[in-house]
Amino acid sequence: ITKIMDVSEEPINMEYIREASEILKSGGLVAFPTETVYGLGGDATDKEASRKIYAAKGRPSDNPLIVHIAKFSQLEDITENLPKTAKLLADAFWPGPLTMVCNKNQVIPYETTGGLDTVAVRMPNNPVALALIEESGCMIAAPSANTSGRPSPTKASHVYEDLSGKIEAILDGGAVDIGLESTIVDLTEDVVTILRPGFINMDMLREVVGEVRMDPGIVYNDKGTTSGAKPKAPGMRYKHYAPKGDLTIISGEEDTVVGKINQLTREALKEGKKVGIIATSETADRYPEGEVLVIGNRSDESSIAHNLYDILRRFDELSVDLIYSESFATPKMGQAIMNRLLKAAGQKTIEV
Ligand code: TXA
Ligand code: MG
Repeated sequence: ITKIMDVSEEPINMEYIREASEILKSGGLVAFPTETVYGLGGDATDKEASRKIYAAKGRPSDNPLIVHIAKFSQLEDITENLPKTAKLLADAFWPGPLTMVCNKNQVIPYETTGGLDTVAVRMPNNPVALALIEESGCMIAAPSANTSGRPSPTKASHVYEDLSGKIEAILDGGAVDIGLESTIVDLTEDVVTILRPGFINMDMLREVVGEVRMDPGIVYNDKGTTSGAKPKAPGMRYKHYAPKGDLTIISGEEDTVVGKINQLTREALKEGKKVGIIATSETADRYPEGEVLVIGNRSDESSIAHNLYDILRRFDELSVDLIYSESFATPKMGQAIMNRLLKAAGQKTIEV
């Protein structure tokens, strides 16, 4: 049985943190909140714990885990040839939603890094996560706490849906803050490279380290196909975040998009299909048919990021056959939001 421990209220119930720490120290698994999404944690230095993480998620074992730490010196403890940019980025963004890929030493086993000689490391900005790392004395290996291929969990109930019975405990810290996974940067090459877009965007990184580039493997052209290069982060190569309903993104000018979604919805309903629509609070009233869910306000992109995965899960519960979504070219997190939405859609987009 999976024990759920409520740590959503401050001050944090340290008895639960101690109980969770004991589980980690004895090789067990605990899901915990971070500011991005919930993580499925195990002791990062324990090969067996890493194996259990892959098994619980049903995740391919060549897809490496992120190591969560609570002080900068822990990054130095587990890496070698650490570039100066690591300290600059840590000073600017840690604790926070930035993961750095660095050359590993022997402290973190290959079971945790999916056989790679590099290790991905992040200091989360969440009091429960930091208390757990400190109290357990463990560096915590944690992928997102979802079943592989499902949307990442932004609430403890999402974790429970996917992993109940498969892990020892869930620390319930309430809904997460950001709702999209951390930005991943590769620091092992001359130029800092974004492997996965997130809340920390290209402009914010450039202000700290100068030149930054995007991994060509995650750049899509106007037809929605890749440049042909393979993404450098193994996890970005898999089809991810796939809702059960077939998702298509409709992009273009607002009135035309609303018109197109209504037309497609009518056609699908005639064929006896169940249709979901991802709308914004600005447009929701303009969809008379279908299951309409509001993702957030177009004027507040953080609301869209916050609700994206929850909306995808709700459409799974509604068992819709098709989902039509508006497109979100939001200025700051736009790249991150569209990256996740396009993946959920298997890149299916209609330009109107
Ligand atoms: O916000 C987050 O990063 C969340 C929370 C729990 O911290 N974690 C998360 O983990 O999103 P996960 O396992 O779902 O995604 C980790 C990504 C995968 O795409 C993986 O391939 C990549 O990080 N990754 C991990 N280690 C890597 C490495 N050494 N080199 C390249 N990519 C790496
Ligand atoms: Mg994940």
